[in-house]
Amino acid sequence: MRKPLIAGNWKMYKNNNEALELVRELAPLVADLDDVEVAVCPPFTALADVSRLIADSGSSIALGAQDVYPGDEGAFTGEISPPMLKALAVTYVIAGHSERRELMGEKDGFVATKVRAVLDAGMTPILCVGETLEEREAGNAARKVEGQLAADLEAVEAAEVAGMVIAYEPIWAIGTGKTATPDDAQGMNSAIRRWIAASFGDDTAASVRILYGGSVKPGNAAELMALEDIDGALVGGASLKAADFAAIAGFKA
Ligand code: 13P
Repeated sequence: MRKPLIAGNWKMYKNNNEALELVRELAPLVADLDDVEVAVCPPFTALADVSRLIADSGSSIALGAQDVYPGDEGAFTGEISPPMLKALAVTYVIAGHSERRELMGEKDGFVATKVRAVLDAGMTPILCVGETLEEREAGNAARKVEGQLAADLEAVEAAEVAGMVIAYEPIWAIGTGKTATPDDAQGMNSAIRRWIAASFGDDTAASVRILYGGSVKPGNAAELMALEDIDGALVGGASLKAADFAAIAGFKA
């Protein structure tokens, strides 16, 4: 059985103090959610303190990072390595978010090395894939996503894919208030699972968690999470408010 993962991607929001405040508010609201895993991905500057707060308070919230550089150490000014994240008890690392692909020009080859580096450090990648509006309208959405999967998972073994998280985030649905319809979201998530089955085997496809991301809110979470191939959500804007994020995480309640 795949345990749903509700992960908050805080993006470039919340300074250290604000991050601590948000986690303090969130922790009691999600403390009783046993059948869902809840994770937060604050900015790098807040990871150490949030990690300590989670540990000290005994919260079950998992910690994630929004990005990583694929190297253990070295002369890479401004970058953060997988072992540095691992040392802060980070569990999840987002790789290939569309904002990094589009704004920072990150290509699939680079994303593939990040996925590999995160696994090598003993953490779980959350690999983001998704199409632009133009690609969807041209009927190329599945081809785009499958191309990303093929490139980004090139250096990964089936057993590793089984433990990974893939997030389908249609770019046109991110921060726009436009959510994919349940049919579109389920359609792409099941296409991703079929692709994983064909490439890595049925057992791997049955284990890998495939999230949906893009304007997930308390009002649409239950409907999306009920779909067969949606194993949770990667939440942006709505993860910045404890009550909203907790309502999304409690979609089954
Ligand atoms: P929004 O939930 O703000 O649309 O962001 C989605 C996202 O990009 C999560 O990674």
